[in-house]
Amino acid sequence: MAQINPSILSADFARLAEEARRVEGTDGAAGADWLHVDVMDNHFVPNLTLGTPVVESLRKATDIPLDCHLMIEEPDRWAPAYVEAGAGSVTFHAEAAAAPVRLAREIRAKGARASMALKPATPIEPYEDLLPELDMLLVMTVEPGFGGQAFLDIMLPKIRRTRQLIDKHGLQLWLQVDGGVSASTIERCAEAGADVFVAGSAVYGADDPAAAVRALRQQAEEAAGSGREG
Ligand code: DX5
Ligand code: ZN
Repeated sequence: MAQINPSILSADFARLAEEARRVEGTDGAAGADWLHVDVMDNHFVPNLTLGTPVVESLRKATDIPLDCHLMIEEPDRWAPAYVEAGAGSVTFHAEAAAAPVRLAREIRAKGARASMALKPATPIEPYEDLLPELDMLLVMTVEPGFGGQAFLDIMLPKIRRTRQLIDKHGLQLWLQVDGGVSASTIERCAEAGADVFVAGSAVYGADDPAAAVRALRQQAEEAAGSGREG
């Protein structure tokens, strides 16, 4: 089952509650599975966004669970506060974490899903033994820092290798892709084995963001189905 997580990085930051509601489901139609919240500290990436006060407010403004992607230094120090602020899933970067196993366990113990992200140049192989500690693995398909960048096709082999490792160990963890995911790239990601799709500009750049979410989900599910048959 494909999940679609709109990234509010491409939304209007002065109207976040309203922007969240634009991707909620209605009686007849499913909406976003999670709301993807990009936290940037101007150190790990050259951009600055928001912190725990905004997450706390968003939590009260929408029923969609929050998927917080921390593009920050010292996640060991800061990530637990995002669980307390109301995140249902917290993603830290492998490149920034001092003790990823301890941090993942702390996030889980506080009651959220624990997730780890890999920048494009970071391989999955050194982390094979850590996978059981995680609920989700995020393969970045752009260099983190900005929305609206072009999808990096060269990441498809890493998505495939990660899917193989997950299946080899019989794990349930989700495989997320983030960056440049759109109607023209989501099928390649799904065929490679991703099952959680972050989309910023492809959702919030659309006239009807909720319809864009549904169209992306359908494309991903059809591509995953044909991948399995093939
Ligand atoms: C990039 C962020 C992404 C970003 C994706 O560093 O992590 O979540 O919002 O935006 P699009 O979908 O426009 O590439
Ligand atoms: Zn992100």
